Amino acid sequence: MVVTSVITEETTDVHIVSEKVVFNLPHAEKTTGRVVPMDHGPNSKVDFGASVYGIDLNNFTDADFELISDALHKHKMLVFKEQPKMLAPQQQYRLTASFDPNETTGGFAHGADPYLTSHKGLKIYGIPKRPAIPVQPQVHILGRGPLPKEHYGFPPDFQVQGIDHEEFHLPPHIPAEEREAGASRFYQWHFDGSLYSIPPPRVGCLLAVRTPKGPDVTVRWDDGTGTEMKIAPGSTAMVAGSRALELLDGETREIVMNSRIEYAPHAFVWMSTAHSARLGHLLETEGLEKPLDQLPPWDKDKVCIYPMVWTNPKTGEKSLQVHGQGAFKLYLKDSPDGEERVVDDLKEVREFMNKLMRPVLEPENIYAHRHEEQDVILWYNRALWHSIRLRKLSDQIYKGVGFELIRGLEPAKYTPKQSLIVYAGVSSHVYSQRGFVDVTAKGVVAHIVNVQAGGKGPDTTAPAFTQIPLSFHTDNCEVMAFFYMELAESGGDTLLSSLWQTYNELAAHRPEVLRTLARPWVFDSFKSYDFQPPRHVRPLQRLDSDKVPILIRFSRYGILGWQRQRNPDLPAPTEDQIEAADAIQFIAMKNAFKLSPKKGDLLFANDMALVHAREGFDDGGDVSKRHLIKMHFRDPDQGWGLPESVENEWKTVYRSSELGGSRQEIWDIFHQPGLEEMSSVNG
Ligand SMILES: [Fe+2]
Ligand SMILES: [Fe+2]
Repeated sequence: MVVTSVITEETTDVHIVSEKVVFNLPHAEKTTGRVVPMDHGPNSKVDFGASVYGIDLNNFTDADFELISDALHKHKMLVFKEQPKMLAPQQQYRLTASFDPNETTGGFAHGADPYLTSHKGLKIYGIPKRPAIPVQPQVHILGRGPLPKEHYGFPPDFQVQGIDHEEFHLPPHIPAEEREAGASRFYQWHFDGSLYSIPPPRVGCLLAVRTPKGPDVTVRWDDGTGTEMKIAPGSTAMVAGSRALELLDGETREIVMNSRIEYAPHAFVWMSTAHSARLGHLLETEGLEKPLDQLPPWDKDKVCIYPMVWTNPKTGEKSLQVHGQGAFKLYLKDSPDGEERVVDDLKEVREFMNKLMRPVLEPENIYAHRHEEQDVILWYNRALWHSIRLRKLSDQIYKGVGFELIRGLEPAKYTPKQSLIVYAGVSSHVYSQRGFVDVTAKGVVAHIVNVQAGGKGPDTTAPAFTQIPLSFHTDNCEVMAFFYMELAESGGDTLLSSLWQTYNELAAHRPEVLRTLARPWVFDSFKSYDFQPPRHVRPLQRLDSDKVPILIRFSRYGILGWQRQRNPDLPAPTEDQIEAADAIQFIAMKNAFKLSPKKGDLLFANDMALVHAREGFDDGGDVSKRHLIKMHFRDPDQGWGLPESVENEWKTVYRSSELGGSRQEIWDIFHQPGLEEMSSVNG
């Protein structure tokens, strides 16, 4: 997650008016800072960027600021390394506001924020994808997912919504399976500013609080050129307006030096109904912009008309600084005294903007900054353009129907080892954490096969490893995945059913069952208790969250047993519990979605929102045929709040990977006989 102090939108709904804060920086005779220009390598044409060491931004002085200001104007982008502590929003505001001492809106260069929502009795301002931080409303949060506890005045369980390019870009969008596999686009090439009423801020500032993990993503131009570029997930891409100017032909350069752009009133509201070009630099001309008379009230005097080329006040360097999507009218002149030609046909405006902007948008001119946690980046917003790039993340799993199927992989084309690599690769783009699938917390892949094929196999405590039907249950994880390597001769379909629908029906018709589920149950593991002792579990728990109010984790095998008898020293299942187990099975089955998988399917299912089951199957002979590879995943940017007891279990399942540390994982390429006994008894 990234915190930013800039915002590019303005609406005229209810506003917070934050007072202009007056402050003085602590005085020091000398700075402790050190500036090291970045080296972008021989193939790059990027000539901006420097790293700054030795300045603690939570305590920077006036002498430090002088160094920062000089370096910023010279290098245009600074990355502050080795920050001893996460930058406080109050300090982030001081850093950026120090560049705009005459700023008077109090909202810091983007105006005041609209009222967003009330959450647990507290008012929050901003827009859904960028809520303002209550203690310092000029600073906004970018990202998605839940916030830490007591986060600078945010109420508990507040979730940041995030953005997705499907809301804005011209269809067709990147297909889901390609996005899961790491394909992405630039969202919007822009400089920050409201483009209406308020001048753009001099600097932009991002603090990397939490960054997405995982392999590089492939950003596609999708403009017919086939151009693409690999960049780190969650990075911010930048290009220099000076380079854009350099790449223009002489005649066009002469024009831009003398010409101006008028931006649409309330430009971001105006463009909100239109489509962006897939490269994120222009709008498509389809007549979809919001008509001027349907915009919030606007004033002709507040419309922004800016020169196309801006001059750096300290270095004198000139930069082409244009916002292609907000451009509304052009006032073109080819010399200071030339005749002015007004272009107000939007198609023509955009053709001209494309001529200005497209040449610099090539990989060699783009710097994609890989955010490192706790780093702060500061850029000169009047000389650089930037864009974020997006991926879908795991929204479908956590916020949509709860499962997603990727079809089209062909296991037959791969060796068993390559299949595992494909599985790991595709899923790592979506989920940065893998869970252990066995009770000894060693293995991360479980090969679900019938170990009793031909009637010769061992008794087992884990019914999944046979051919019987499996009743509805949850696994012990957040996201469960199946890779269907080989199907049975007949049967073996997967059933999914909503836990919340089950809960609602129980609440309406069988409330006593919910009471039974809320009391402790004792699940036998049916294994050596050295590996897995009996568990005392409340199958139904309340969560302190208004997004996900309940959690049900359930399996009937742990209480009723399977091929092995329950330990007589444990309390026997009560009649109420047996009735509850039946009620869950029947309601889940009544509402189930039946998935008839194809070979090569990859299924991701939210194990906290769905129960799953399996139909019995027949492999058609004495040899085991049906073969699924099960893995457990988690996306820490999305995860839901958990009760403490479950959180402790999660630590065992996902431990150390969440600290970014190394851990031992066993990746079995084939089923290892006997390993089924290490599998959880859930199903
Ligand atoms: Fe921005
Ligand atoms: Fe399962």
